Amino acid sequence: MIPVLTIDGPSGVGKGTVANIVANQLKWHLLDSGAIYRAFALAASKRNIHLDNTKELLDLASNLNLRFESDPANNGLDVYLDNTEVSSELRTEKTAELASNFAMIGALRESLLIRQQQFRKLPGLVADGRDMGTVVFKDAPYKVFLTANAEERAKRRLKQLHERGIAGNISHTLEEVKNRDERDASRKHSPLRPSEEALIIDTSDLTVNEVVTRVMALVKV
Ligand code: C5P
Repeated sequence: MIPVLTIDGPSGVGKGTVANIVANQLKWHLLDSGAIYRAFALAASKRNIHLDNTKELLDLASNLNLRFESDPANNGLDVYLDNTEVSSELRTEKTAELASNFAMIGALRESLLIRQQQFRKLPGLVADGRDMGTVVFKDAPYKVFLTANAEERAKRRLKQLHERGIAGNISHTLEEVKNRDERDASRKHSPLRPSEEALIIDTSDLTVNEVVTRVMALVKV
């Protein structure tokens, strides 16, 4: 049984940062499932495939040429789509918004399921996303759900964008974060919600190190 630690939560909560640090400390593999949805959205928009064109979307999902390479400087992973590095393009709010629209399609989520489950390899996996604990790794022995108030998440998201040289302002980012959460939490398929077994951590007033310590304590017991 290969252990999995799932880290779910809304956008801007710091899942990626925490997942990356914890994966490094445990020396486990890392899955950034949001990057799969973002890369898919980018590929579909480059090919002009519309949201209602289920057949072409599913064809693309099964042929998506996507590769992750470990890069500690870039939140853990560099992402290659069709052999081109797309990590920066992937991080923009425009791509996130597109991803969240494609992520509502149940059949598409189904077809991306195995691609995500294939990351489960020894000695273990840290998986971050929206439905890691509720759907993709339902049997995971360790589950965490991170929350923080929307203002704090917008601030964190903006800081992250600025560090990557991407422009943005706080009121606009707050609006985007709220809209995307609303869509992710209210969708029919795999909505954003904590698994019943998840340890819920409100990170609003915690440092990254404090969150990491709590998550590590869960895995170490
Ligand atoms: O986590 P990230 O912000 O990169 O995710 C981008 C979008 O992809 C989310 O807003 C969500 O709609 C979708 N997503 C999802 N399920 C996941 C990960 C991401 O639906 N497991």
